Amino acid sequence: MRLLFASLALLTAAPAFGQDAGQTQFVTTCSACHQVTGQGIKGAFPALAGDPFVQGDADAVITTVLNGRGGMPSWKADLTDDQIAAAISYVRAAWGNTAPPVTAAQVAVVRARSAQPVVRSMQAH
Ligand code: HEC
Repeated sequence: MRLLFASLALLTAAPAFGQDAGQTQFVTTCSACHQVTGQGIKGAFPALAGDPFVQGDADAVITTVLNGRGGMPSWKADLTDDQIAAAISYVRAAWGNTAPPVTAAQVAVVRARSAQPVVRSMQAH
């Protein structure tokens, strides 16, 4: 019982924006398609590891995750700004990617103005 309480205390103490929270979010909501390795599945789900788009303009990445695109579902109804920021920050810094994190505040701004999906050609895939 004491061990259980200790573990719970550790879980609640976990930072909202840490790499751990982001990794957990990614594994839970994104890795079924993009894979825990970030390599995706060729011909079906794009690799996020080494992907220039993922490491590029933050607003474009946020819009893509909020609204979905092609075969990717929209996440705006299912995930909070915190959760989306955590997942995106993780994919921008994992597997050798080197882009800066995004904040929940950035997600909130894009969410508020993003009725339209990013127009980015699906031909890239
Ligand atoms: C059901 C499968 C699926 C899940 C789950 C999923 N994605 Fe995707 N994702 C896709 C597909 C398919 C594409 C390519 C869409 C296209 O071709 O336009 C994509 C594209 C992307 C892109 C754009 C990549 C590029 O180079 O254009 C990003 C960024 C992304 N996903 C992030 C995420 C994140 C973050 C999550 C978790 C919150 C997630 N995805 C969950 C299927 C998925």
